[in-house]
Amino acid sequence: MQKSLKTKFLGHTINSPLVLPAGVIGMAFSGFNISIENGAGIVTSKSLTMKPRTGHRGPIIAEFEGGFLNCMGLCNPGIVDGLVEIDQFKKRSNIPVIASVFATSTKDFLKLTKHVNNSKADFLELNLSCPNVFDEFGIPLSASHDEVYKITKAVKQISTLPVITKLSPNVYDIVSIAKAAESAGSDALCMINTVGPGMLIDTKMIKPVLFNKFGGLSGPCVKPIALKLIYQTYSAVNIPILGMGGVTYGEDAIGMLMAGAEVIGVGTAVHYRGIEVFNKINSEIMEFMAENGYASLQEIPKLEKLKM
Ligand SMILES: Cc1cc2nc3c(=O)[nH]c(=O)nc-3n(C[C@H](O)[C@H](O)[C@H](O)COP(=O)(O)O)c2cc1C
Repeated sequence: MQKSLKTKFLGHTINSPLVLPAGVIGMAFSGFNISIENGAGIVTSKSLTMKPRTGHRGPIIAEFEGGFLNCMGLCNPGIVDGLVEIDQFKKRSNIPVIASVFATSTKDFLKLTKHVNNSKADFLELNLSCPNVFDEFGIPLSASHDEVYKITKAVKQISTLPVITKLSPNVYDIVSIAKAAESAGSDALCMINTVGPGMLIDTKMIKPVLFNKFGGLSGPCVKPIALKLIYQTYSAVNIPILGMGGVTYGEDAIGMLMAGAEVIGVGTAVHYRGIEVFNKINSEIMEFMAENGYASLQEIPKLEKLKM
């Protein structure tokens, strides 16, 4: 049986459904090359802001038994330099790139969109959901369906690229927020961003492990939350979902597909299984397909949708 991981996402044909999510392997765009050499089908930039940001003071990331806690604080080179790196990468590769952007107002999201329109990026991702800049900017915009609607609608009016809205898991009613993005014209949803924030304590030093005290959770501990939110959202909207949150093995990726994701982000797992994690998960998905008689990703069944 001819098995293939080829699939489509927003009109682009990709060789693997695996996506490098925003931010997890730092700011350097050399991370793009190394991810695609190791089997990723799409890569995402660090979330870019209007001006460069140094982020929070360290320690900014800590490992614990369930995953990672981070409070990077959106360190990035700024939209202008960030897009130069995307453009340089696109000169050498036809792998689709998602330009992730972060702002706190519609006005700044529109400015960022104009920059991205003039770049070689393939998709625009609106990070409305970063939990670890709470001290600076307050509750993430994606906690409010009105803000999600307003910003997505405004961006859609001027964006020349498909728009992906990245949602937060830290809400009670994900469906109303996802529907707000969909009705504002979002082409796809990305979920989930990190969970929390949470905190770890260094009991010898009697202080929080992270300098900034609180940080967002990622890795295996967030997978059940991601699966539940993706499944609820898949049951309620008709736009594709880029699903992520704790995917570490092929089995996790298959679960995401069954919950309703079309493509799958693999972030924190890079720290557990090395950058080869994309090829490893690709092989594990292929093995699952062979064992179960599926010739393509499209043949892997989705769960029956929830009745709303
Ligand atoms: C160190 C680190 C930095 C991150 N930076 C960003 C970012 O800049 N923008 C964003 O939208 N998400 C960011 N995220 C969230 C990831 O893109 C992803 O949504 C989340 O980690 C869940 O996936 P995972 O469990 O596979 O890592 C970051 C996560 C980590 C661990």
